[in-house]
Amino acid sequence: MDLRGCIFDLDGVIVDTAKYHFMAWRRLAKELGFEFTVEDNEALKGVSRMTSLEILLRTGGVTVREKEKAVLAARKNGWYVEFISGMTPDEILPGSIRLLKSLRKAGILTAIGSASRNAGTILDRIELREMFDVIVDGNKIHKAKPDPEVFLRGAEEMNLPPSSCIVFEDAQAGIEAAIAGGMKSVGVGSPELLGHADLVIPDLKKITLKELRNL
Ligand code: BG6
Ligand code: MG
Repeated sequence: MDLRGCIFDLDGVIVDTAKYHFMAWRRLAKELGFEFTVEDNEALKGVSRMTSLEILLRTGGVTVREKEKAVLAARKNGWYVEFISGMTPDEILPGSIRLLKSLRKAGILTAIGSASRNAGTILDRIELREMFDVIVDGNKIHKAKPDPEVFLRGAEEMNLPPSSCIVFEDAQAGIEAAIAGGMKSVGVGSPELLGHADLVIPDLKKITLKELRNL
């Protein structure tokens, strides 16, 4: 392919924030009177804050009024923001910086395509904002993955056609979003979960530009 831009999901690809989301959701579940396990948490990856809350409530068999949902989601986010405020560049996942540097050296544009409204805070904490030409996060978009909006907006802000872009994702919904947007996709994680991607890799440590251009 004529590779001209790479769009990276943030949570689970560049940085492991799933553990902080989990700590906050588990605390909320405890307050509501049930246990939320690490296995339950898998279903929340890549999913928006409100949908995550709805899945959590379903898991615990808890029903609340629509108004109360906003209060609960805000409480979870308060704890989450507290957790991520202590993050450091040490938490950048291995291989991320190497890959970003080699892309930029080759003149390939880089973007963040994240569902999170906290993406800006995280990028500041890990001091990685400058490595991205474009940042599209949960504050800019209306439709959650698997809708392709977040990635299409990324391509548009880079002034590139979707067919020149590769998406890096750790969530199934994210791979579906890339496919729906007409982009190539690289799944970062397990092949069982991300089998729809054009290529699946365990992490960003070894991937080369040559392999990416061959997609
Ligand atoms: C995604 C995460 O990147 O962002 C989800 O994978 C999270 O787990 C979603 O729910 C929304 O994040 P935030 O920070 O806006 O609550
Ligand atoms: Mg993710």
